Amino acid sequence: MKDINIGLIGFGTIGTGVVKLLQQNEELITKKLGARLVLKKIADIDITTSRGIKISKNLLTTNAREIINDKDIPIVIELMGGYEPARTFVLEAIAKGKHVVTANKALLATYGNEIFSAAQDKSMDIGFEASVGGTIPIIKTLRESLVANKINSIMGIMNGTCNFILTKMTDEGKAFDVVLKEAQKLGFAEADPTFDIEGIDTAHKMAIILSLAYGKKVNLKDIYLEGITKLSSDDIEFAKDLGYRIKLLAIAMLKNGEVEARIHPTMIPSGHLLANVNLNYNAFHIMGDASGPIFLFGQGAGMMPTASAVFSDIIDISRDILKGITRRVPLRSRSETAMQQIKLIPMDNIETKYYFRFSALDRPGVLSKISGVLGENNISIATVIQKARGEKGAVPVVMTTYKALEKDVRKALKKINKLDMVQDETILIRIEDDLN
Ligand code: HSE
Repeated sequence: MKDINIGLIGFGTIGTGVVKLLQQNEELITKKLGARLVLKKIADIDITTSRGIKISKNLLTTNAREIINDKDIPIVIELMGGYEPARTFVLEAIAKGKHVVTANKALLATYGNEIFSAAQDKSMDIGFEASVGGTIPIIKTLRESLVANKINSIMGIMNGTCNFILTKMTDEGKAFDVVLKEAQKLGFAEADPTFDIEGIDTAHKMAIILSLAYGKKVNLKDIYLEGITKLSSDDIEFAKDLGYRIKLLAIAMLKNGEVEARIHPTMIPSGHLLANVNLNYNAFHIMGDASGPIFLFGQGAGMMPTASAVFSDIIDISRDILKGITRRVPLRSRSETAMQQIKLIPMDNIETKYYFRFSALDRPGVLSKISGVLGENNISIATVIQKARGEKGAVPVVMTTYKALEKDVRKALKKINKLDMVQDETILIRIEDDLN
C-alpha cells in the first residue's frame, strides 16, 4: 500500500484536531483512500505545550521549512492563520511543487488571487474547504455540486462567535461583553475578536464565497460591512415583538447580472430556517436557478468539525495523487484566467425593508413630522410601535418600512436626526423577510 506524506504547519486548535482525527479514524481513512496518510512533520513555534494527544517528539519542529523543503512531502497543511508568515510559507510550498490545504480565510480573502495564480502556474492544488463555514461543505457545494447553476442568492451565517453572542443576548438576555468572553473561552473567537464582532471575519469568508459563486475577484473593502457591536437589547426585544430574530447575515445576490454583497445585522422572520440557526452554528441558504433552495447547516468553528473539512481536502488531493493527476477540479470552479475583477453594486443602490428606532420626545406632531420626512423620500411605513408614554425624556418609536432605496433612507435619517424632537441618532436595521 502506498504512503502519502503530509506536513502540518500550525499546531494550534485545528492542527491538534487534524492529528487527533488521523489517529482516531486512521483505519477508516486508509480503507477509503486505498493508501496510508503519514503525518511526517509538524511545525509550530511552540512545540513544548501539551496538546493532550500522544505524538512522537521526533515529529515536531520549530522550523516550517523542514516541511516546505522536504521532497517526500507532497501535501502541506497550513493552519497557522494570519497573513505572514503564512503567505510566504504557502507560496514557497507551491513553488516547491507541493499541494496546500489551508483554513486561512484572512489569507485567501486578501492574497487569494496571488496564491491561486501561483498554484495554477505550477499545477498545484489548494484545498480551502475549512476556510468558510468550518465543517460545512460550502466550497465543494458551490464549486462542484452547483456548478451548472446560476447562483441567484446566498444568505449565510458565517461567524460562530457573533451567532453565539446574538443567541445568548436574544434567548437569555445576557449582556454583549459577558457572552463575548464566553465565546472566547469556548475557543470560537479569533485571536483578535474584533475580527468577529466587527464582521471582518465574515467579510473574509464572503470574499471567498463570491469568487466561487460568481467567478469574480472582489476587493474586500467593496463588501458593505456592519458588525454587531451597535446592537442593543432594546432592538433585540423589538425584533421579537415584530416576529423577527436578528442575525449577522452575509447576503450575496445577483441583480440584473450584477452582484450585491453586504454583511450587517438583519431581522429575519423567526420561523425561517436561518433564524433558528443558533449558538456557534453556521448556515448557508443558497438559491440556484436550477437547484432551487439549498440549506447547509453545521458547526462553523471548533477543533474536530474544522479538522473534518481539512481532511476532505487532504483526501481529495491524495486521490488525485494516486491517479497521477492534479487539479481535477479548478480551484475556484473555473480557470484562474477566467476570473474577473468586479465592482459590487454600491450600497446606496440596494433596496430592502428597514426597521428604525427613533429616540423621540413624546409630543404631539412627532410622528407626523417623522413620517412626513420618510414620505418625502419615497419611504413607505409598514408598522409603528410606541410602547412608553408620557415620559419626560425621549421614548423609543419603532417603525418598519416596505422596500426602500438605501440612498433615500440615509437621506431621510440625516434630516430626521437633525429634528429637535429627535434626541439620539436613529437606529437602522435591515429586514429580509421574503426569503424562500
Ligand atoms: N472566529 C470564527 C467564528 C472561527 O467565530 O466563526 C471560524 O472561522
